[in-house]
Amino acid sequence: MTIRFAIFASGSGSNAEALYQATVEGQLRGEIVGVFSDKEDAYVLERAKKWGVPAAQLSPKAYASKADYEQAVLDQLRIWQVDFLVLAGYMRLIGPILLSAFPNKIVNIHPSLLPAFPGKDAIGQALAYGVQITGVTVHLVDAGMDTGPILAQRAVEVQGTREQTETFIHAAEHELYKEALDQLWNEERIK
Ligand code: GRF
Repeated sequence: MTIRFAIFASGSGSNAEALYQATVEGQLRGEIVGVFSDKEDAYVLERAKKWGVPAAQLSPKAYASKADYEQAVLDQLRIWQVDFLVLAGYMRLIGPILLSAFPNKIVNIHPSLLPAFPGKDAIGQALAYGVQITGVTVHLVDAGMDTGPILAQRAVEVQGTREQTETFIHAAEHELYKEALDQLWNEERIK
C-alpha cells in the first residue's frame, strides 16, 4: 500500500522539494497527493504547480475560528484521501480538529535537537546560546509547540558564519526527513 501524504508549508518549501525529489527517485515510498499552505504567497505553491501536484491555500483570517479553518482544511484533505500530514515549515500549531482526524499521523521537522530550542528561529536561538553542536529533529506532532515523540535526529556542528550553519542544517533536514518518513511508513506497511 502506498502512503498518500500532504505537505503543509508556509514558505519556500526546500524540504518539500527534497521530499518530492525523493519520491520521484524512489528513496521515499509514498505519494504527495496535495500541498497545502496557509500563506497566499508561499513559494511552495509554485513548486507544486511545477510538479503537477494539486495545491490548496486557505487563510486562517478568512474564518471565524481556528476550528472553522481546520474543518475547511480537513474537507480538502478528505478530497485528497490523505493518510499522513507532513509539516515542512508550516508556521502554525495544529489544533484539535486535525489532531483527532490524524492521530499519530502528523509529522514535523524542526531545525534543532529538540527539546532544545523549540519555536521560531531555532537556529538563531541555538547560535545566541552559543552551542557548538545543534541539529535537526523529525517528530510526531501533538498539541504542543515542537513536542511529541521523536522519530529521528541528526547532529550538525556549528561552524563558520550563520549562513554556513544554516546551509548545513538545511542539508541535514533534506536527508533526514526522507529517511525518517520512509522508515516510519515501512513500519506502517508491516503493521
Ligand atoms: C525548516 O528549517 C524546517 O525545519 C522549519 O522551517 C523551515 C522550512 O524551510 N520547520 P523550507 O520552507 O522547507 O525551506
